[in-house]
Amino acid sequence: MTDQDGLYILLISVHGLVRGHDLELGRDADTGGQIKYVLELARALAADPRVARVDLLTRQVFDAKVDDDYARPQEEIAPGAYIVRLPCGPRRYLRKEVLWPYLDSFADRALAHVRAVGRVPDLVHAHYADAGYVGIRLSSLLEVPFVFTGHSLGQVKRQRLLEQGIKPEVIEAQYKISQRIEAENQVLDHADLVIASTHQEVGQQYSLYDNYQPRRMVVIPPGIDLERFHPPGRGWKNPPIAGEIARFLRDMSRPMILALSRPDPRKNIAGLVRAFGENARLREMANLVVFAGTRDDITTMEKGPRRVLSELMLLIDRYDLHGITAYPKHHEPHDVPDIYRLAAKTKGVFVNPALTEPFGLTLLEATASGLPIVATSDGGPRDIIEYCKNGLLIDPLDIQGMGEALLTVLSDRRQWNRWSRAGLAGVRRHFSWQGHVNTYLREVGKVLRRTRRRKGVSVPIKSRLPTSDRILVCDIDNTLIGDREALAELLRLLEAYHGHVGFGVATGRRIESARKVLREWDVPTPDFFITAVGSEIYYGPKLVADSGWRRHIDYRWEPAAVHTALDGVPGLRLQPKEEQRPFKVSYYVDPERAPGLREIKRRLRKKDLHVNVIYSHQAFLDILPVRASKGAALRYFADKWGIPVEHILVAGDSGNDEDMLGGETLGVVVGNHSSELERLRGGERIHFAQGHYAWGILEGIAHYDFLGSFREEKEGED
Ligand code: GLC
Ligand code: MG
Repeated sequence: MTDQDGLYILLISVHGLVRGHDLELGRDADTGGQIKYVLELARALAADPRVARVDLLTRQVFDAKVDDDYARPQEEIAPGAYIVRLPCGPRRYLRKEVLWPYLDSFADRALAHVRAVGRVPDLVHAHYADAGYVGIRLSSLLEVPFVFTGHSLGQVKRQRLLEQGIKPEVIEAQYKISQRIEAENQVLDHADLVIASTHQEVGQQYSLYDNYQPRRMVVIPPGIDLERFHPPGRGWKNPPIAGEIARFLRDMSRPMILALSRPDPRKNIAGLVRAFGENARLREMANLVVFAGTRDDITTMEKGPRRVLSELMLLIDRYDLHGITAYPKHHEPHDVPDIYRLAAKTKGVFVNPALTEPFGLTLLEATASGLPIVATSDGGPRDIIEYCKNGLLIDPLDIQGMGEALLTVLSDRRQWNRWSRAGLAGVRRHFSWQGHVNTYLREVGKVLRRTRRRKGVSVPIKSRLPTSDRILVCDIDNTLIGDREALAELLRLLEAYHGHVGFGVATGRRIESARKVLREWDVPTPDFFITAVGSEIYYGPKLVADSGWRRHIDYRWEPAAVHTALDGVPGLRLQPKEEQRPFKVSYYVDPERAPGLREIKRRLRKKDLHVNVIYSHQAFLDILPVRASKGAALRYFADKWGIPVEHILVAGDSGNDEDMLGGETLGVVVGNHSSELERLRGGERIHFAQGHYAWGILEGIAHYDFLGSFREEKEGED
């Protein structure tokens, strides 16, 4: 698969139960509309000729309580569309609020996946805050645009919970809400494009955030599956679910007032029953059919649904709606399209009386089935009725008004037909997945062109790390630089193998000074930097810091105590302030006066300090966290990007290079090395070059046949 084949899109949706068939929607709070949305989006995108491949990354779950399907590492859901399940923390199924600590490792796994595919995606599109967290990291590492869809937002959720009188501490403990909001803030900072489903989501929800950027937002309503949802045809016969409804009704041929929602108080089912119960003409001409989830025994249900359903029963009894109201106990997801069709066949109406409705997928499903709608005047319904012109908006608290609106829809047959037809046309034009994909690709195309312009190139520049099969890593001072002629020769060679060979530097310098000296020596920006003696890692031209590495080495690190132990020791002098880094304390050494290395280590140990002590050029002493060094950083890097250590050629000249030269890497010590590296002589996979500076590197490349042998090895493998 190459760039010419079309776009390669990575979708990320971490939580919930995701599979390509028999979705368990509503099984738990995390397996709902978002899951359905991302699956349909993946399929619709992959079906477009402009798209070569779509991978939907989600969490892999091994848990006896859920189906084995959720453990499968990969599942093809349509030609060119895959669900890719990646490990993320514990193996068992977890609710989304507790996944935060494991998202970094999810991002690392995602990187390894990209490497396995062998092509860098053109964009990363994350769904919900948790995936947003992953998406920021992934898109920065890969240097590709980042697209975000929130689905719902922490600020809105917090407000709503507070309004319900829930205490801030409880909200925090239960929903980890500030972590979520913080992630959303970061997402809004990073996103090249934010996709919302309705205008209200933009105007009223995203606007609650400080870094709200309406310019980078676009409203693209989700598509609806028109093969599932369509009007009843001529010869359409009543489906099995009709029997379930018929049990309740005296006269099935009356127009149906259909409602379908979870048994949630906010859905205002009680308001609807009142509206029906209090309108005598409605009671005479129509049936009310309420699908409110499925149930066995109301008395054993959770408090919320139990209240909603009990109230429903009581109201039906109070208004005596027996024989004209149906409230079936069970229905399956595959019944849903039939339910709408059945209502359409009776020339009925679909009603969504929810207190608030930011989106309203059911309204679109009903519209696609040819049903006119009556819905709460709120974001979602307003957009739908504006585009589809197929019904009336109501105030959910105005019971009488609701009854009148329903009556209006049901009493004028000509109007009903007009609404039904207008809805079908509108949904096709504005709310089909093909329509969605058209707008999506147009907006994404703008973003891709903008990024290219910013980078000043005509083809997309992405990180080459995922597609490199070998990596050259050079120390800077006295290794890469020192001889201009040799350096020029080395850079020519790298240029010739661009795309196959990744290039990094590993230096004692801090990042700013490393960049400066590379510029002075006309070295193009490397793919990655290991700086400050391995205590920091950065990627690409944007210098994305590897925060995972920082967290990894932040272990038993007590810089203040290091100073107490070593400041003032004769022969040691602190290096200037800018050389002291968050994870590096550095001294100049006067070898005449300073105690030996062993004595220095003893002093640190006596203070119970577990650190890494690195001595270079008989002149520099660096104290680092015990987990940090150039070698450790290099191995972390290799692991993260899935690059075998034996495919990395490392060149260095002094003490701080020692631990990356050893081991399985292809080590090259340049001819002008300092004496502390002598002890590596004779080691396996260590080549002591004759040539100085970059001549030594070139010699090492030839020695290992670094640019040739792998190719043969690879060919042998396939
Ligand atoms: C670089 C750094 C310095 C460090 C030395 C040896 O010169 O600037 O802080 O001590 O490398 O690692
Ligand atoms: Mg050096």
